[in-house]
Amino acid sequence: MRCALAVIFVLVSTAALGGSHFPPGHVDRMRGMTPITDEATPPPFVDPDDSSVRRARNYAMQPPVIPHKIDGYQLDTHVNRCMFCHARTRVEDSKAPMISVTHFMNRDGNFLAELSPRQYFCLQCHVPQVPLAPLVESQFVDVDVLLRRAGSPSATLRE
Ligand code: HEC
Ligand code: HEC
Repeated sequence: MRCALAVIFVLVSTAALGGSHFPPGHVDRMRGMTPITDEATPPPFVDPDDSSVRRARNYAMQPPVIPHKIDGYQLDTHVNRCMFCHARTRVEDSKAPMISVTHFMNRDGNFLAELSPRQYFCLQCHVPQVPLAPLVESQFVDVDVLLRRAGSPSATLRE
């Protein structure tokens, strides 16, 4: 048994090394060449997208990403700066999209008169975007592409 485990371990570790494109001494994508025992210098902050261009969602239930800066917006148990613009009663002036109707729903599926506490901390789900190359390549395939491949007539034609 112990021998079998050792064989598996050797196989797995050679597979892992064989698939690596990193130079010797390279630790990982975020640390680069910094050894584990040293502290890596964090990369400089990058200005987030502030274009106001609302982006396509990758699937129907995706929380939309934030197309504007949120620097200095207070979001704690005292103040929710996001709701200054995104609350139902604010959107006429702010021109912001109203929070989704799902944000009024509590965990029992009942609609409340105001924002549900479980949706209060917006940044749990919505995030600003920065123009950087992803550290790990995405292999995501849009469901429309899958539907088209399967010959479904309901796939919306976007390409
Ligand atoms: C000063 C008003 C204002 C504040 C404060 C504000 N937003 Fe916005 N937000 C907007 C407007 C206006 C848009 C529409 C796109 C644009 O013009 O930037 C928007 C767009 C968005 C969208 C994109 C919606 C979609 O369907 O694509 C998200 C998500 C969002 N905001 C989240 C937030 C969060 C989270 C906060 C707080 C951290 C916040 N916003 C604070 C005005 C605001
Ligand atoms: C638990 C995750 C979660 C939290 C917390 C959350 N949202 Fe969302 N939000 C979503 C998802 C998922 C969607 C898209 C599906 C839907 O409508 O529910 C969405 C949609 C939206 C939209 C687009 C509405 C539309 O009709 O196009 C806005 C604007 C938005 N959220 C703002 C906010 C703001 C502001 C907060 C904080 C007060 C917040 N959200 C908190 C998950 C979340």
